[in-house]
Amino acid sequence: MSLVYLNGEYLPIEQARISVLDRGFTFADGVYEIIPVFNGKILRPDEHLIRLANSLSSIAINNPCTSKEWRQIFSNLLADRTDDRNYSIYIQVTRGTGERNHIYDNELVPTVLVMCNPVNERDYSHGVTAITHEDIRWKYCHIKAITLLPGVLLKKLAKDTDGSFEAILIREGLVTEGASSNVFMVSEGQIKTPAKDGSILAGITRDLLVNLLQDNVPCCTEQKITEQELRQADEIWITSSTIGVVPVIMLDGMQVGSGKPGEIWKLANSIYESYKREL
Ligand code: PDD
Repeated sequence: MSLVYLNGEYLPIEQARISVLDRGFTFADGVYEIIPVFNGKILRPDEHLIRLANSLSSIAINNPCTSKEWRQIFSNLLADRTDDRNYSIYIQVTRGTGERNHIYDNELVPTVLVMCNPVNERDYSHGVTAITHEDIRWKYCHIKAITLLPGVLLKKLAKDTDGSFEAILIREGLVTEGASSNVFMVSEGQIKTPAKDGSILAGITRDLLVNLLQDNVPCCTEQKITEQELRQADEIWITSSTIGVVPVIMLDGMQVGSGKPGEIWKLANSIYESYKREL
């Protein structure tokens, strides 16, 4: 049976228990990380662990493990996943258990959960549809916080509107990101993605793709994207650890470009897929 890691122990998931006073439960006071594992190989573990460390320090939780300890937990959990499925490692660290008080005690011991789940192998290569919506989230989106209610509501709204997969978010006329992905667009042969600031999560897939495209023609520039530019884009892509690089073929019920996955997406996706294969 597959085990999960909880606070130093490896347990069947049914036996993994936390207190109802865990601040993750009462305040969503914690952060998380999702790390993909392809063919038994962890994609960009250092980058994910650095982002986890940044998220933790942004909310003043001491990192409960060293990089070596995290990696040991991952390999223990992966040890019995010897099939050829792809997995994602889910890490959640909360501030710990204490009385329900907004003001927290500095001495709390963080709760640490790590589990490894099979990835949904849906084929996205024909593209997905998306809606746009005002970015209703808080302003510290660079922190991978477990406070995901806006994202949950936005994804549900996208689905209920027209079966869309994603909600692409707009703040003050500028594209930020998807509810659970980063956004790229292509216009007149130029690839663009919003620059990293507090308004987006520094997606590991996003950063990898920007790097992989560095020596490519066209390369990708990191710059502001207006809502109008997005609506006139020839191609739109969304990226995340669990979906990879996915073309958006309809936006708010309107065709994006030709309404089919674009040629530049095909090129970018093949570069990303071959990077994964060569891991
Ligand atoms: N979400 N932006 C947001 C708001 C996200 O939630 C995610 C990923 C990304 C992409 O980041 P990365 O490439 O590192 O996965 C961008 C994960 C997959 C989730 O919450 O399920």
